[in-house]
Amino acid sequence: MSHVWRPLWVVIVLVAGVLTFRHFYVPKDFGIQEQGYMYGFHRLSNEQDWINFPISYKFSKDDSYCQQCHPGHVKSLLASPHAIIPCEDCHGPALNHPDNPPKLQIDKRRALCLRCHANLPYPGAGRNVMPGIDPLTHNPGQECVECHNPHNVMEGLQ
Ligand code: HEC
Ligand code: HEC
Ligand code: HEC
Ligand code: HEC
Repeated sequence: MSHVWRPLWVVIVLVAGVLTFRHFYVPKDFGIQEQGYMYGFHRLSNEQDWINFPISYKFSKDDSYCQQCHPGHVKSLLASPHAIIPCEDCHGPALNHPDNPPKLQIDKRRALCLRCHANLPYPGAGRNVMPGIDPLTHNPGQECVECHNPHNVMEGLQ
């Protein structure tokens, strides 16, 4: 019978090892918490961590905040095909701008635009409602904003 017991002992020792490890290393307040499985397994104390997490976006949906100091950009964007894109989507978090940061990021890389405009060759993809270009053939090597004004994308091109 020892040929059965020997591998079985290995399994028993492994299971006992895992249980012992869990006992010492998994925090006591780890579990599914009050809301059931809605938020999955997490530490109860982690909920407070997230409540305290500093937000960094202004979430100015109608861009009325930016309007105060950059009215020209807001006007131009709202009259363009990009009207539905919030300024912060391209310029990053702006909660305390212009105090901190005094300037927002300006990203001129092709990647900024290609995350939405690279053609996806999948017919069913809902993403295809956005006009796509093939990055390999559409003016490769040049920044998109050399030709497209990001706040009025077809200005001067039609
Ligand atoms: C209270 C006035 C004020 C508000 C509101 C404001 N900005 Fe600014 N912004 C400034 C000032 C001042 C600068 C720095 C001066 C400059 O370079 O034009 C600046 C700079 C910037 C720059 C960098 C410009 C550059 O040439 O480097 C961007 C991009 C920008 N702001 C975007 C935004 C966006 C997007 C919002 C809305 C979420 C916003 N700003 C709200 C005053 C403001
Ligand atoms: C689709 C991305 C995108 C959106 C949306 C966007 N911007 Fe920009 N913005 C850019 C890029 C890229 C530049 C740099 C353009 C360049 O230098 O040719 C820029 C430049 C700027 C500048 C610097 C001055 C200038 O014109 O070069 C300001 C200020 C600015 N944006 C404000 C805004 C505000 C305010 C909004 C919302 C109303 C906004 N942007 C929305 C991509 C965007
Ligand atoms: C967050 C996604 C997103 C980003 C980032 C973005 N765009 Fe767009 N773009 C759109 C959407 C959505 C439309 C409007 C589609 C429609 O016609 O309803 C659009 C429209 C356009 C159009 C007009 C196409 C046409 O036939 O009318 C051009 C050109 C364009 N974008 C270029 C750019 C450039 C250049 C950048 C980078 C500076 C950029 N886009 C960044 C989502 C994006
Ligand atoms: C050398 C100038 C130039 C550069 C650089 C450029 N484009 Fe264009 N783009 C144009 C012109 C001109 C048109 C309109 C004629 C056409 O469809 O080719 C256009 C059209 C578009 C369209 C509309 C296509 C459609 O079918 O409606 C999108 C989207 C676009 N460009 C996105 C981009 C993106 C994203 C980049 C950067 C990765 C970029 N462009 C770089 C000149 C340029």
